[in-house]
Amino acid sequence: MRVLIAGCGDLGTEAGLRFAAAGFSVLGWRRSPENLPAPITGQAADLTGRTGELPRIPAGTDVVVIAVAAGERSEAAYRAAYVDGTANVLDALERDGVRPRRILFVSSTAVYGDADGGEVDEHTPPDPASVTGEVILEAERLLHDRRPDAVVLRLAGIYGPGRTRLIDTVSAGTAVVPAGTRLTNRIHRDDAAAAIVHLSTQVSHPDPLYVGVDEEPVELADVLQFLAAELRTELPAPSDSGSSRGGNRRISNRRLLGTGFEFAYPTFREGYRAVLAGTGVRHP
Ligand SMILES: NC(=O)c1ccc[n+]([C@@H]2O[C@H](COP(=O)([O-])OP(=O)(O)OC[C@H]3O[C@@H](n4cnc5c(N)ncnc54)[C@H](OP(=O)(O)O)[C@@H]3O)[C@@H](O)[C@H]2O)c1
Repeated sequence: MRVLIAGCGDLGTEAGLRFAAAGFSVLGWRRSPENLPAPITGQAADLTGRTGELPRIPAGTDVVVIAVAAGERSEAAYRAAYVDGTANVLDALERDGVRPRRILFVSSTAVYGDADGGEVDEHTPPDPASVTGEVILEAERLLHDRRPDAVVLRLAGIYGPGRTRLIDTVSAGTAVVPAGTRLTNRIHRDDAAAAIVHLSTQVSHPDPLYVGVDEEPVELADVLQFLAAELRTELPAPSDSGSSRGGNRRISNRRLLGTGFEFAYPTFREGYRAVLAGTGVRHP
């Protein structure tokens, strides 16, 4: 069994290690593959196609995961990574006559609009509030036009080992506590990686779309309060100066749970406790 992870960064590496543990031979593509840990085989590849053709895809590749991220927050960078990257991977599969059983594209809940506190799930029409969200949606559509059987996994904000921005601001006393409502949705990196492997290997007839989010949409102020209590520190007074990004939505993971997926970190409490305890592995 073979898997190709195109854009093998933090999430792709964690998924790759889990594929390897499940018996897969794992090939990881990125521009700087030197630091990919064994047993992942790293190979240099630029998905944007700027440096020429993609490498040959090994015959017998069963699963392809596209988990690329853009290097910067601009429309051009997002288009190159997500839209061109996805098209180039599909072209390379055709070029090499490889027809994987499953293609999974890691997307983002940024394709949804503001829900005014309401529930969002796979039936909610996308309505991106940002141009980067529009470009990711374009990549999803390109993929489904060419491979209707592909699986799109829209992840909410990823946290986990090495992703300690909120913890750091609470520790430093610089957390911006929203004065008003600011609903947030998140998923631990390891659960996101486990969901990729689960949807690629354990679900025989998957839906074309899943959201990857834990079991508890939560006010950002409550997460900060929890972290402050764990760190035995005080939060600054609430202010209105925080970013309004986040979409004010309660994202439901009902469809993912319906496939039999079980979360290791069902809510931010278990997940952040693990991060604070230093459990989990940080990848280069
Ligand atoms: N972070 C979040 O909260 C969040 C939320 C929702 C969805 N997501 C999605 O989750 C996915 C994975 O995120 P992540 O945190 O694992 O990101 P990451 O650690 O930055 O990994 C992305 C990888 O893509 C590679 N890459 C970038 N441009 C490339 C190119 N042109 N050709 C080949 N590889 C390229 C990078 O490696 P090189 O630089 O070596 O090429 C990097 O290792 C992304 O699709 C992201 O949109 C993230």
